[in-house]
Amino acid sequence: RAFRAQIITLFPEAFPGTLGLSLTGKALKEGKWQLNTVPLRTFGEGKHRNVDDTPAGGGAGMVLRPDVMAAAIATARASQHAGAPLIYLSPRGRPFTQRMARDLATRPGVTMICGRFEGLDQRVIDQFDIAEVSIGDYVLTGGELAAQVMLDAVVRLLPGVLGNADSTEEESFSDGLLEHPQYTRPAEWQGRPIPPVLLSGNHGAVADWRRAQSEALTKARRPDLWQAYKDRKD
Ligand code: ADE
Repeated sequence: RAFRAQIITLFPEAFPGTLGLSLTGKALKEGKWQLNTVPLRTFGEGKHRNVDDTPAGGGAGMVLRPDVMAAAIATARASQHAGAPLIYLSPRGRPFTQRMARDLATRPGVTMICGRFEGLDQRVIDQFDIAEVSIGDYVLTGGELAAQVMLDAVVRLLPGVLGNADSTEEESFSDGLLEHPQYTRPAEWQGRPIPPVLLSGNHGAVADWRRAQSEALTKARRPDLWQAYKDRKD
């Protein structure tokens, strides 16, 4: 029933992290989504519960063993809904986007594999047809923070999690533009007034001003988004 996140990780203590706070934490306590960690170490080999080995062909670092990971995946999937995608967090993955978050929020859940070291044995990726996803062009120590970033973006889109339905429709990326600036009282602060149009009570003029600001900001900061936005209009 509720969206179920299954997380395979060497560091289950990293969860729920900030997902246990604020909006996502409240929704977790209310049972609007479920979070379950599958501790990879418990599937390790031998007395020391080894999960990794040296890379075939040589080189630095360690690679997660396919047999150990396969056992963890089987356990994670045994208590996952059918139709929940299997995702491996990796800087090699497809870039995570708001579109992907919206799609995941329509699914019954997600199973996420957090890597450490040099990564996963390629055969396990091929065997289970795992989708690799990156949260950006930088390298983290492990997938745990990336999994939390993705889950935060997904959980806030689940039904009943965000109070005001408008706030996901008006925010950045819903229309492909960056968000306009926001102001609140006092009307003047440090000699800086709130733009008068926002205090005019003219809703049409406010909407036009905000749209112009969004467009100017997107053009200046994100030429890639601006191009995509223009291509979408025509
Ligand atoms: N693991 C390490 N770096 C990562 C990134 N940028 N995105 C997703 N997972 C990662």
